[in-house]
Amino acid sequence: MNAPDNRINTEIREGVAVITINRPKALNALDRQTLHQLKTTVTTLEADPLIKAAIITGAGEKAFVAGGDIGVMQPLTPLEARAIAVEAQQLLNQIEFGSTVYIAAINGYALGGGCELALACDIRIAASSAWLGQPEINLGIIPGWGGTQRLPRLVGVSWAKQLMLTGERISATRAAEIGLVSEVVNADDLMARAQELAQAIASKPKVALQLIKEAVNNGLEMDVNRAFAYEADLFGLCFATADQKEGMLAFLEKRKPHWRDA
Ligand code: CAA
Repeated sequence: MNAPDNRINTEIREGVAVITINRPKALNALDRQTLHQLKTTVTTLEADPLIKAAIITGAGEKAFVAGGDIGVMQPLTPLEARAIAVEAQQLLNQIEFGSTVYIAAINGYALGGGCELALACDIRIAASSAWLGQPEINLGIIPGWGGTQRLPRLVGVSWAKQLMLTGERISATRAAEIGLVSEVVNADDLMARAQELAQAIASKPKVALQLIKEAVNNGLEMDVNRAFAYEADLFGLCFATADQKEGMLAFLEKRKPHWRDA
């Protein structure tokens, strides 16, 4: 599933897709080509019923993704800049709202658009050597790939504004303290831990995985009473699946369930 000029490598390891952004000389900065190839990869995975979990990481030891490509952006007109923001936002929404569970394995710098890519993932874990931040202010711009919206929803308004207004990078440890990542591990253990999480998720029933993503992602945008009603509807929908009958029967029969992902 690898793209012809290798900006994105995709491997399937034990039912889990590992997507590696592969432009290490530019610290995996996302130019148009890399963005397009990432979109093609995500679209392909989303259409594959056998893939339930995917890991996104960066090639090399230095960077997850150091942002949108500054060289590409510098000469843009306002309309071109808007178009690239919309295109990247669509890709990140595809990740956030997709049926696959995405884990960002942050192996180094996750800055600007790189941090925003991680924010769109369902779970973020980081190497202890990683640095995260939204340094756009230092370039005379604002985050444009969803950061002004996802970051405050994840870490709260105060930390989000501090990061975006100062442009300061924070360590993985600090990122874990503020809830920007959920775990910090040694760099050498990062991919093994991401695989462990992804495989644990891939061993669960697919429809319920999807409905958890839907309940959280959509429910957070509703007033809480509507969100409770929405959750109850999705809970009810689980009872239309073979996996609900099997999961509960397996518990009662004291055996492991055999998921059909249906
Ligand atoms: N765009 C384009 N090229 C980039 C890049 C980026 N975001 N980040 C790094 N690179 C390139 C550098 O230009 C350099 O290329 P050359 O070797 O050809 O000169 C190469 O990657 C290595 O980078 P450095 O020499 O700078 O490496 P360093 O170790 O000294 O510093 C760094 C690492 C602190 C991450 C530094 O590269 C840096 O600050 N990068 C920019 C980070 C940034 O501002 N990101 C936000 C971009 S804007 C954005 O993302 C907006 C949005 O919402 C989408």
